[in-house]
Amino acid sequence: MEPKKVGVVGCGTMGAGIAICMLQSGMDTVVCETSAENLENGLNRISAFFEGSVKRGKMTPQQKQERLNLIQETTDLQDLVDCDVIVEAIFEDVRIKNNLFRELNTICNHNTIFVSNTSTLSITSIASGCGRQDRVIGIHFCNPAPLMKLVEISHGLETSDDTYNKAVEFSEYLKKKVVTTKDTPGFILNLLLVPFENDCIRALEQGIATVEDIDLVLKHGLGYPMGTFELLDNVGLDIHYAVSMSLYNELKDKRFAPPPLVKKMIDAGHLGKKTGKGFYEYNKTGMFGAV
Ligand SMILES: NC(=O)c1ccc[n+]([C@@H]2O[C@H](COP(=O)([O-])OP(=O)(O)OC[C@H]3O[C@@H](n4cnc5c(N)ncnc54)[C@H](O)[C@@H]3O)[C@@H](O)[C@H]2O)c1
Repeated sequence: MEPKKVGVVGCGTMGAGIAICMLQSGMDTVVCETSAENLENGLNRISAFFEGSVKRGKMTPQQKQERLNLIQETTDLQDLVDCDVIVEAIFEDVRIKNNLFRELNTICNHNTIFVSNTSTLSITSIASGCGRQDRVIGIHFCNPAPLMKLVEISHGLETSDDTYNKAVEFSEYLKKKVVTTKDTPGFILNLLLVPFENDCIRALEQGIATVEDIDLVLKHGLGYPMGTFELLDNVGLDIHYAVSMSLYNELKDKRFAPPPLVKKMIDAGHLGKKTGKGFYEYNKTGMFGAV
C-alpha cells in the first residue's frame, strides 16, 4: 500500500515523531491537534527535528522545506476526510480514543484505515462500536519514532486480514521493521520493558546506586544503547506513570505498579526532557537530541 495522503491526530511526543516518518516518506500529511497552541507546539517539534538534520548535514535546507510543505495543519477533524490512513497518537485513554474513532468514522472515506498508537490499551476496545471495527488496527511506534525502526502491529478481534496486510505494507513504506503481536496489554515491548524500568527505579529508591551508575551498567555492562533513566526522560515520567498504571490495572502484577518516586517527580514537574528536568537535566535543544 502506497498511501498518498495520511493523517496524524495528536501532535505531542509521538504524533510529531510519526508525522516526521510520514513526511520523510514523501506523504501528504494532515496534522490535527485540539487547539492552535498545541498545533503550533507540535509543528515546532517537527520543524526542529528537520532543522537538526540540516545542521548535521543530513539534508539540505531545500529538502527540509519540501518536507514541511507536505504538511496540512488543522484543528478540524473534517480535514482528515480523504486520508488513506489516520494514526491517532492522543492521550492513553480508551474512552477518548474510542470517541475519536466514532467521530472519524462519520467523516472519513469508507476505505480509510484507522491506526492506534496505543502502548497498553486493547485495539478491540478502542475500535468497539466505532462503525468500522474491521478497518481499525494497532501500530505501536517506538519513541523517538523517526529514529526507532520497530513497530508492533496488533489486530483487534474484528480487524480484517486486508487491514492487517495494508498496515504491514504501510509500515514497510515508512521503512519500519514489523513484528506482529496479539491484542494483549503492553504487546511485546512494554510487557517486557515496563517492569524492568520499574525495577531500575526501585533500585534507585533503595539507594543501591546512582542514576548515572545504573545507566552505565546498562550501557557498558549489557550493551544497551541508552540507559533506563535516559530512556524514561525521553518517554516522559507522566507517560511512564500512565503506561505502568494501565498495565498494572490490566495484569495485577505489582512489578508493573509505578514506584512512589515516579509520582513525586511528576508532582514536582520533573517529567523528563520535555520539562528540562527528569532524572537528568537538559538544555532547551530539540526533542530528539542526545542526553
Ligand atoms: N511517549 C512514548 O514514549 C510513547 C511510545 C509509544 C506509544 N505511545 C502512545 O502514544 C500516544 C500519545 O502519547 P504521547 O507521548 O505522544 O502523548 P503527548 O501527551 O505528548 O501527546 C498527546 C497529544 O494529543 C493531543 N490530543 C489529545 N486529544 C486529542 C484529540 N481528541 N484530538 C487531537 N489531539 C488530541 C494533545 O493535545 C497532545 O498534544 C499514547 O497512546 C501513548 O501511550 C507513547
